[in-house]
Amino acid sequence: MPGLSYPTLTDGVVALRPWGIDDVDDQLAAFADPVFVRFSDWAPDTRDQLVDRLQEVERARENGLGIHLAITHPDTPSHALGEVALSGIDDTNQRASVGYWLSPAARGRGLASRAVRLIARWAFDELGLLRLELTCGPDNPGSQGVAVRCGFRLEGLLRSHMAFKGGRRDSLVYGLLPGELLS
Ligand SMILES: CC(C)(COP(=O)(O)OP(=O)(O)OC[C@H]1O[C@@H](n2cnc3c(N)ncnc32)[C@H](O)[C@@H]1OP(=O)(O)O)[C@@H](O)C(=O)NCCC(=O)NCCS
Repeated sequence: MPGLSYPTLTDGVVALRPWGIDDVDDQLAAFADPVFVRFSDWAPDTRDQLVDRLQEVERARENGLGIHLAITHPDTPSHALGEVALSGIDDTNQRASVGYWLSPAARGRGLASRAVRLIARWAFDELGLLRLELTCGPDNPGSQGVAVRCGFRLEGLLRSHMAFKGGRRDSLVYGLLPGELLS
């Protein structure tokens, strides 16, 4: 896929925007949250790591491989509440993976589900993708709830799916096809 342009995506309750260097301190705080650390295989603890990550996700966008967007409230766009992302965009097979997180104070209000719906609709309608996939730990009910609220269907358990915190982790795999997205 050619490089991706940043879309303007909002439903009036959340607005998605590009990440910038000014977000690095908010990101550092969010990535130190124990719930994030528990479920993530990547937990940066320096500004330099986050600056490198910003550059990495920007390269992925320029190469049409993914896009990472900050979740904000439309009235306070400078304050990032979390992230929603498409990664591993596979042009040949018209599919991609979805990922998300929220800072602790933003949880429990449906904001991640709203953000996933926005990026999924864009992926289907504008990028022409035909399948979105997400994986999460079997012990991560928060993430599973987001998947189900958006219409993702549980497709199976991937045993020993990934290297995780010095060991291996199983993953649940969910899939979403264009007609299945719940509003
Ligand atoms: C995964 C994660 C983003 C889920 O956050 P969340 O706030 O639970 O998800 P949503 O934003 O969709 O909100 C749903 C919650 O808000 C509640 N809610 C309140 N008002 C709502 C509304 N208007 N619409 C939908 N849900 C609403 C829901 O009942 C639900 O709470 P419950 O699970 O206690 O029933 C969050 O737990 C997180 O950041 N975890 C750490 C990172 C992580 O695990 N990422 C996924 C890796 S695979």
